[in-house]
Amino acid sequence: MYFVTGASGKLGQLVAAELAQQGTAADVTLGSRNPDKLASYAQQGFKTARFDFDAPDSMRAALAGHDRLLLISGDAPVDERIRQHKAAIDAAKAADVKLIAYTSFTNASAKSLFTFARIHAETEAYIKASGLAYRFLRDNQYAENIASAVAHAKETGAFAVYGSKGKVAYVTRADVAKAAVAALLTPPNGGETFEITGPRAYDAAEIAEILNRKWGKPVAAAELPRDVLVAIFKQLQWPPFVIEAVVSLHEATAAGELASASGDYQRLTGKAPESLADFLARTA
Ligand SMILES: NC(=O)c1ccc[n+]([C@@H]2O[C@H](COP(=O)([O-])OP(=O)(O)OC[C@H]3O[C@@H](n4cnc5c(N)ncnc54)[C@H](OP(=O)(O)O)[C@@H]3O)[C@@H](O)[C@H]2O)c1
Repeated sequence: MYFVTGASGKLGQLVAAELAQQGTAADVTLGSRNPDKLASYAQQGFKTARFDFDAPDSMRAALAGHDRLLLISGDAPVDERIRQHKAAIDAAKAADVKLIAYTSFTNASAKSLFTFARIHAETEAYIKASGLAYRFLRDNQYAENIASAVAHAKETGAFAVYGSKGKVAYVTRADVAKAAVAALLTPPNGGETFEITGPRAYDAAEIAEILNRKWGKPVAAAELPRDVLVAIFKQLQWPPFVIEAVVSLHEATAAGELASASGDYQRLTGKAPESLADFLARTA
């Protein structure tokens, strides 16, 4: 049996859809802090369970009888999230889970400029130390993350981002879900790390050029100043730790941390990932 955490989130829903399409629903339990949100999946043959990183007993009970776990990273501040992930790993070990597939992030290192990278570095290290088989899915940025900059460019002709010269090997959330499903359904093979990226990396000028061609009107890349980005996030009333993380992600991008495209998606799934150009052709 397989267990998926965070199943009501955006990625979790795509994972569930992919599992259903592959005909494995009956072998899968979907977990969420609020399993009521998963009622439609129960109708498709999935089992559902309450799973809360802050309730260790709920995790141990939910994981009993499962031998593989897809641990979708949470959304809490850094130290809280590290504690939550460690509790989930402890529960998996106590429940005799054999493999953990974990949604990590590109350059999961405490040296990264991205403030959330330490969460992924420490979670990976804790999984390794657990002795369980693992698959780390070091996901690059979701292609969906540039949606508001693309919408702004459509209105104004300026594709404005902070750290605009840095390249990002964007990957669609749907492809991240497919990689996660492959990592869960493939029999354990010790410890493996996959850099989940799109087929190539793009900077803002290259994205502007794609949009220019698609819309048939001039679009130019522009550098969005740091203080303007922070002011936008403050107006949206984002929590300070999220603002700090997103700003630091742009700084990591400018430093080239997200620029490497890898063939690991294909190695894991047997298929090519969708390119950002194709993603924008169908969504922008
Ligand atoms: N690569 C990227 O560009 C990128 C971008 C954004 C986020 N991420 C990471 O990828 C994860 C999934 O992305 P997403 O787009 O699906 O985000 P999302 O829709 O915001 O989902 C957040 C997930 O965190 C789970 N969660 C939060 N607190 C939890 C707790 N106490 N116990 C158990 N689960 C908890 C939620 O599960 P339930 O609500 O079902 O309990 C939900 O599935 C995010 O949480 C984040 O770590 C990556």
